[in-house]
Amino acid sequence: MRISFSFVLASFVFGTIGSAVDYKQDILPIMKERCWECHANEKKVKGNLAFDDFDEVRDYQIGKYNIIRPGNAAESNFVERLLLEPGETDFMPRKADPLAKKEIELIQKWIDSGAIIDREKMTEDEAERAKEMSGDSASEGSPEYLIWINKKGKGIEARFLSVADGKVKLLLKNGKQYDVPLTSLSGASMEQAKKLSGD
Ligand code: HEC
Repeated sequence: MRISFSFVLASFVFGTIGSAVDYKQDILPIMKERCWECHANEKKVKGNLAFDDFDEVRDYQIGKYNIIRPGNAAESNFVERLLLEPGETDFMPRKADPLAKKEIELIQKWIDSGAIIDREKMTEDEAERAKEMSGDSASEGSPEYLIWINKKGKGIEARFLSVADGKVKLLLKNGKQYDVPLTSLSGASMEQAKKLSGD
C-alpha cells in the first residue's frame, strides 16, 4: 500500500500530540503576554525584533550566529537576556518582572529542540534540524521508519520508540512524538509494536 505522508499528517486522528515544542503553539503565547508592547508590528517594534512576523523570526532571528541558536539555548542571546538580573541594561522584558522559570525552561527546550516555528509546516531546513535535534529519543527504538495502520485504516510512517502503559510511542519525520493506544492499532501494527518492544 502506498501512503501519502502529507495526507496522512493532515488527517492523522489517532494518538495525542507528544512533547515536541514549537513557536506558534508554545512560545508565541508567552511573547504575546510579555513582549508584545515592544516587539510586535501591531504595537511597537524595538530592537528590530517583531515576534508576530514569523518569517522574519525564522529567517533573521534564528540561526547559528543569531539571537536564537537552534540546539544551543545556552549561547542564545535571546535566553541570556531573560536570565539577567532585572536591573541590568540588557535584561528582558524591559522594565518588567522576569519570566517565570517554567516559561524560560520552555523557551530553552524550544531552542534546544531546533527552534521550529510551526511543526505542521516546516521548511526543509527546519525538518532537517528537527530530525537532528529530536533528543534522546532518536537513539532508542527502531532505526527505520515503518508504516503504522490504525483500526480505521489510516496510516502513518513513523519510527517505533517504545511501548508503555498500553501505548506505543512513535516518532514522526517532523520530530513530533505520538502516543498511540495499542488497542487503536490494526492487528498487524499491534503485532509490529509488540515484536519491536521485545514482548
Ligand atoms: C518595554 C519595552 C520592551 C519589552 C516589554 C521587551 N523588550 Fe526586548 N527590547 C526592547 C528595546 C528598547 C530593545 C532594543 C535595545 C536593546 O537591544 O537592549 C530590545 C531588544 C531586545 C532583544 C535584542 C534584539 C537584538 O537583535 O539584539 C531581544 C532578544 C529582546 N529584546 C527580547 C525580548 C523578549 C523575549 C521580551 C519579552 C519577554 C522583550 N524583549 C520585551 C524593549 C522591550
